[in-house]
Amino acid sequence: MKGYKDMKRKVIFLSSLLIAVFLVGLTLPASSEEQLGKIVIAHRGASGYLPEHTLEAYVMAYALGADFIETDLALTKDGVFVCIHDIYLEYTTNVKEVFPNRAQKDKHWYVADFSLDEIKQLNVHERTRANGIAYFPSRFPLSFSKFEVPTFTEMIELIRGLNKSTDRNVGIYPEIKKPSWHTQQGLPMEEALLEILNRYGYNGRSAKVFIQCFENESLKKLRFELGTDLPLILLTWETIWNYGGNAKPFTSELTEDILEEIATYANGIGPHKDRIEVNPDLVNWAHERGLVVHTWTMRADSLPAQYRTFDEELHQFYIIYNVDGLFTDFTDRAVQFLRSWPSLEK
Ligand code: G3P
Ligand code: CA
Repeated sequence: MKGYKDMKRKVIFLSSLLIAVFLVGLTLPASSEEQLGKIVIAHRGASGYLPEHTLEAYVMAYALGADFIETDLALTKDGVFVCIHDIYLEYTTNVKEVFPNRAQKDKHWYVADFSLDEIKQLNVHERTRANGIAYFPSRFPLSFSKFEVPTFTEMIELIRGLNKSTDRNVGIYPEIKKPSWHTQQGLPMEEALLEILNRYGYNGRSAKVFIQCFENESLKKLRFELGTDLPLILLTWETIWNYGGNAKPFTSELTEDILEEIATYANGIGPHKDRIEVNPDLVNWAHERGLVVHTWTMRADSLPAQYRTFDEELHQFYIIYNVDGLFTDFTDRAVQFLRSWPSLEK
């Protein structure tokens, strides 16, 4: 009975969101990308409003007008890609309650230690800190959470399905998390990722997909060893993370020389926004080498001190720094910003 009620609740919820998709589809003009050449990437779905990396959050991001929907990926013990940000389960699911004795010595419950069947028994909730307190207290209530961990193929089928039914062409933006660590666990990610993308028709350089990774060697493997020409984005914090998991720090910034090298295997960079704040030239340097710049992460409920409003931050990055796209937890706000900005070509 409980299972039936949960399912009914889920169907009603998803149906409401789908109705919203159709309503938005009827009223939205063409995508920001088509109109303005700049993209809105839904960071972990509509994660400002619903728990990250759930089908519900992806469908809401779709309805809010995202150009691309991001998913982070980890592999289960039985080799299935699931949509989750961490290689651990405990910050976004109730794994501690369901499998109290399955933590490793380091007190982490690893995705790679669980089968897909086991992971499907968990409920996803809003991200918490190690002490169980919500990371963003003003977001979706922890106690209402009845969401599943989706597989990557479920996510793709949702987006592809909505693209067909709404006649839009929203892209996907998968990030393989810690591929060198996964390889050490006997779970290499790169080939398996390409196989799935190929199966769903993501082929060639103009496919509506960006593959992102913090590990440069993983992208080189995708490009040179596996021969993909799909768009690749190297994510950077202050360091490039090399294959094997060893951080190799830049001297200070992403230099022009380093960008030159990145351009030999990637189509763009995904620098943390602070990298651009300290060196706005980075965007031009990247553009001069044919690299797009997609920065992260813009959160209306976690504004950097120098900005009074979210629109001010969006303006600074989209217009002044001239990034090509940004990851945001608040897709609707970025879409509205781009549509109302007067000096962009429409
Ligand atoms: O992938 C872009 C951005 O999402 C990187 O940060 O930690 O949210 O995956 P993270
Ligand atoms: Ca990510």
